Order: sequence, then structure tokens, then C-alpha cells
Amino acid sequence: MERCRRVDAKQARQATGVTKYSPSVDHSGEARSSAGTVGIVGAGNVGVATATVLASWKTQALLVENDPARYELLCKHRIPFFDPDLEALLGDVARQGTLRFSRTIDDLADADVVIVCVGTPPTTSGGLDLGALERVVDRLTEVSPSGTVVVIKSTVPPGTTERLAGVVSRTRPDLSLVSCPEFLREANCLDDVLRPARIVIGGPKRAACEKVAALFAPANAPIILTSAASAELIKYGANAFLATKISFVNELSHFCDLVGADITVVAEGIGADPRIGTSCFSAGLGFGGSCFPKDVRALEDLGASRGYRSLLLQACSEINAQQKERVIAKIRASLGGTLSERHVAVLGLAFKPGTDDLRQAPSLDVIGKLVLEGAKVTATDPAAAPSGDELPRGVKVVRDAYRCVQGADAILLATEWPEYRSLDWARVRSSMRGNVVVDGRNFLHGAHLVELGFVYQGVGNATRQPTTPSRAALKLKSLPE
Ligand code: UGA
Repeated sequence: MERCRRVDAKQARQATGVTKYSPSVDHSGEARSSAGTVGIVGAGNVGVATATVLASWKTQALLVENDPARYELLCKHRIPFFDPDLEALLGDVARQGTLRFSRTIDDLADADVVIVCVGTPPTTSGGLDLGALERVVDRLTEVSPSGTVVVIKSTVPPGTTERLAGVVSRTRPDLSLVSCPEFLREANCLDDVLRPARIVIGGPKRAACEKVAALFAPANAPIILTSAASAELIKYGANAFLATKISFVNELSHFCDLVGADITVVAEGIGADPRIGTSCFSAGLGFGGSCFPKDVRALEDLGASRGYRSLLLQACSEINAQQKERVIAKIRASLGGTLSERHVAVLGLAFKPGTDDLRQAPSLDVIGKLVLEGAKVTATDPAAAPSGDELPRGVKVVRDAYRCVQGADAILLATEWPEYRSLDWARVRSSMRGNVVVDGRNFLHGAHLVELGFVYQGVGNATRQPTTPSRAALKLKSLPE
């Protein structure tokens, strides 16, 4: 059936030049194979989630991954990162035959839409490496059938899709390049593709954009059709805004420390205004991951390359860096003004819970600084396993949280994994040498910890002392300075 080609032209052009678009939705559940194969290139979070969900909507999807190890994993219905729900659905759709895997773009010779999801990592010089994306687009110009729509889902600086379209049109004017940025959160990818807040599609050719819109119609999300540059800037703007929101609440946490207020309540009170909202508004160790730090920097660089210095984005990154220093200062102060020879146990390494991703994880930065100041660091995480060069020499990583805290003078909670909240904290307390807990995510039950004799400090709220000095605290005082 002609599911993908049958689009409803109902639309409302707005004065802004943005079009809100409503493709017709087919709820028949019939296979959409006659719409042609959709190719997805790159089996990272975005590619795997996009391919899996499209296949679950009965689109024939072919996921291309050139890395042999990743490809082998996919063939065994496993995914190259931590996301059990996504892995389960991938297994289902692969067994049903709507999702297939390939190692080569050459197999996309009959794909009428190809969605490019390859990485665009930062370079050592601070720019972005678009090499993988350019190579894929180049190869597609050689193998794609007439009229193929190439969708750029990889995060790219505004202007990239238009530039690539210019290059492609020299040899293949029949191909269309469309920007369709992703807004997926790691560990929530499946839900974010199934139920996106919006779908943004940008490009000069209306028919090509509508073809992409029809693919994602089962998500029933608002669809915004616009230019490629606007679509790309929506992506960067959204990430930069969320990162700035986090830096703002972290900045406020400092004010809370200055006046003795509690950031958790302050953020809740401010976020109760629906114009502000409470999501992405939790103070802590700052933002990490492969997106926020990179995208804020890329937008700042884009401005700089055109003679514009963004004070706001600069401040956003600086506050994010400072936040880690502030948390370290709290640990240092609680340990008598020095970290030298102090044992700090770090709970959580991943840049956020629910993932094993360590890219730009605040924990790594903090651990590096603790070690530089002479601290002995042990660390643990339920999912992330750092490789040799991700942590300074001497840092011991153990799987068991109780082993990690044994003999520690202080604990730093760096990632809010739920299992750390439900640890047997009395057991933790009795196995430590000291009694300091610095909660870098305002996540633990502070009052309970204080009852157990811990000195508890969050981010942006007052230090809470146990009523009587604990045995461990007395022992700590006798440590050499
Ligand atoms: C982020 C965006 O949320 C996605 O919409 C976007 O698609 C994605 O980047 C991307 O560009 O691919 P992600 O990096 O998975 O997603 O992580 P988030 O859940 O947004 O968290 C980012 C960082 O901010 C984490 O380190 C987290 O701990 C921190 N954070 C988040 C806070 O410090 N406070 C908050 O209130 C929320």
C-alpha cells in the first residue's frame, strides 16, 4: 500500500515562515514495505532508536553500521550501548523481519529515504569532525536511486545541510537533502522517538520534507516544516537553552549557599510558573554527556566565526565548570581544609543515571581534580566501566558500592543512580573512617543520613551536622594535616 506517499496537504502557514504540518496517519498496522526501504546509517543511540521504532511502525528499515564489532552485536540482536528496553524491542522487530542490518551503504541501492545518524564528535582543536557525515553523503550520491531523500539527523552546525546539498547537487540534482534533528535523551531514546514533543524537518524541497514527515506520522507529534538552517538552529538552540537553564539553577544554588536558602525548594517554587517549568532545573555537579557541552561550545564558536561573541553561552559553560570546583571545595572544607591523603569514595561515574556513557561526565573531571590535590579516590558505578585512560592512575574502580566506601573519609554522590539512595547507609557509615557525605545531585535522604551520624551537604543547601560528634568524625580530626 502507498502508505508513505499518501500525505494530507492540510497545513497552516504562519507569518514566521514555519509551517505546522499534519500528515495523515494510517492506523491499519499493515506492513509499510511497499513504501520502500528506509536506510538508517550509524548504530549509535539515535540510529538504533530511530531504526527500531520505524521498524516497529512496520516500515522496512535497514540499519547500516560499518564497525565490525557493532555490526556483529546487532546481528545477535544486541545493541552497542546500555538500554535494555530498546534492545528488547530491537530483538522483536529484527525477528519479525522489519529491521535488517548491513555493514555497507552499497546495500541502500533501493532505499528511497536514508537517515544519516553518524557521530559529529568534537575535534581536539575545538571544532566538530564532520568527516563521517561527509563520507556517508558522498557515498550515497554514488549508490542512491533517483529521487532519494537524504535526511541529516546527526547534529550539525546551522548551514551544514545547505552546504552539503550544494555539493551533492553538482552530480546528483535529483537527490534531496533534508535536516531532521533529533531530540533524544540517552536512556530515554525509545520513548523520545515513540512520543516526541515535536518533529522538526527543514529543507528547500517541500515534497522531500513531506516524505520524511509521513515516515514519522505514527508518532502523532506536532510537525514543524521549515528551512534547513532553522531546523539545525532549533536543535542547537534547544540544547543551549536547556544547558543554560541548568547553569542558571546552579548559579542560584550558589546564592542559596550565600543566604542560607535551599535550592531544591527555590527551584520548585520558581519552576511552578508554567512559563519556566521544573524540568532540567535541578542543581548539581553540572551538565555532561556528549551533547550539551559540545553543542553550547559549537554555537558559541559559530557566533565567534561570524564576529559575534555570545556572553550568555560563555557564562553557561563557565558556570558549569565552576560548579564542579564548588563541590570539590565543599569536600575539602569538610575534611579540614585539605584533600591530601584523604580517601574520597565517588558513587556514580556515568554522566547521568540509566546509561554507561562517560563522555564529558562531571565525575571524571572531579576525580581528576581530587587526585591532583592528593586525595585517594575509589569509585563505583552500576553500568559505566571506565577504560584505563579515562581516570588518573591510582583510582580504584569497584563494582560494589559497599566496597567502594570502605575506609573512606568522605563520599561524593556524582550520579543519581536510584540504588545509591536505597543503600544500607548505617552499614556504609560503620565501614567508613569519616562521616562526610557530599551529595552532588541533591538526591539522597539528607535527614536520614544526619540521623545516622553523617555530616550531609548537598548543592545549594545548608550543611547538616549530626547532633553529637560521631566516633568517625573524632577519628578524622586526629588525621595528619
Ligand atoms: C540531551 C538533550 O536533553 C536531548 O534533548 C538531546 O537530543 C541530546 O542531548 C542530544 O543532543 O543528542 P542527554 O545528553 O542524553 O540529552 O542528557 P540529559 O538528560 O539532557 O542530561 C544532560 C546533562 O545535564 C546530564 O549530565 C545531567 O546530569 C545534567 N542535568 C540534567 C542537570 O545537571 N540538571 C538537570 O536538571 C537536568
